[in-house]
Amino acid sequence: MSESDKLVLDLLKGKEVLQRPLWLMRQAGRYLPEYRMLRVQAKNFLDFCLTPELATEATLQPIRRFGFDAAILFADILLVPHALGQDLQFLDGEGPVLEAVTDEAALRNLVWNMELLEPVFKTLRMVKKELPDETTLLGFAGAPWTVACYMIDGRGRQGFPRALAAASQNPDFLQHFMTVLHQATLEYLGCQIEAGAEAVQLFDSWAGLLDDQQFRRWVIEPTKKLISALKAEYADIPVIGFPRGTSPENYRAFVLETGVDTLGVDNNIPLAYVRGHLQSVKPVQGNLDPELLVQGGDPMRNAVNDIFKTLNPNHIFNLGHGVLQQTPLEHVAELVKLVRDAQQQPA
Ligand code: CP3
Repeated sequence: MSESDKLVLDLLKGKEVLQRPLWLMRQAGRYLPEYRMLRVQAKNFLDFCLTPELATEATLQPIRRFGFDAAILFADILLVPHALGQDLQFLDGEGPVLEAVTDEAALRNLVWNMELLEPVFKTLRMVKKELPDETTLLGFAGAPWTVACYMIDGRGRQGFPRALAAASQNPDFLQHFMTVLHQATLEYLGCQIEAGAEAVQLFDSWAGLLDDQQFRRWVIEPTKKLISALKAEYADIPVIGFPRGTSPENYRAFVLETGVDTLGVDNNIPLAYVRGHLQSVKPVQGNLDPELLVQGGDPMRNAVNDIFKTLNPNHIFNLGHGVLQQTPLEHVAELVKLVRDAQQQPA
């Protein structure tokens, strides 16, 4: 084992590790019975995220049950719009609903008040104290484009027609958004790091909605700028970027140009491409289809096997998107065992 014994952090820093690390996006959540018990103690999801005792417990639950190699802060990408003063509610069966910001005047009205996010930093400090030494603590934020999608459209169920219209017809307006979100996200991640986050992930969940040219302008450029500003202050903190849903070629441009330390890959990218064109640039994280974790059995086993056979050890085992609510606990337990038992394939 290396000096620090933290598999995820070591791999993110480009060190060789003896075992393939494992954690799952959305590893905390409603598929866990203990999460559902905890969730009813909060009046709503926003309060849940902003109550350090509850958020700490939610962060630790999947670590206790499954022993994942990383704990991800329990919070949400939409806490940034909340701290910008945008009205935000999580409605059952609908997901997040925000008061849409559709013009310059509304955008100018937003005022960044990071004090509202103080409970998040307290959660990180509390988690850090309880976490096993070998578990990496991850902070995160939404990337500017994905957060702008929710802020401009107000909800996500019907896609993001207004944000997409801005991307093609009103670039000045969207650029102004990028500037506001750059500054807020930079400060937010800086505070997460000060509070104990050892690495951070940028979720660009809606990167796949953009064409190639738009991807460059609204995903690559803002991500590169954010990482460079973050690295100027925190050179040692690794950044994972996850431009979900984009093409293989755009993934490659992203990993070559943004300065990410590790690339999160969704399950639509063929493993041979990941191995040949992405792992040759940086370590990758992903990309088991979350539906296969729901299904379990041989389809899941075969897919895990393919990942081990095809990807070299410069890899953090994860899903291609978050754990689904209907995922059986036994399948997660089996996945953990499969990954732990698998022999590293020679590179
Ligand atoms: O375990 C973890 O991964 C940590 C916590 C986490 C949550 N959201 C908790 C959450 C993280 C990293 C996120 C990121 C997030 N939030 C993203 C990016 C990743 C992705 O899924 O693409 C996005 C787009 C959001 C916005 C968001 N938050 C939506 C669309 C929803 C509703 C959908 C749903 O699953 O209910 C949420 C709510 C949310 N965020 C829940 C959780 C556990 C469910 C709320 C509940 O328990 O009632």
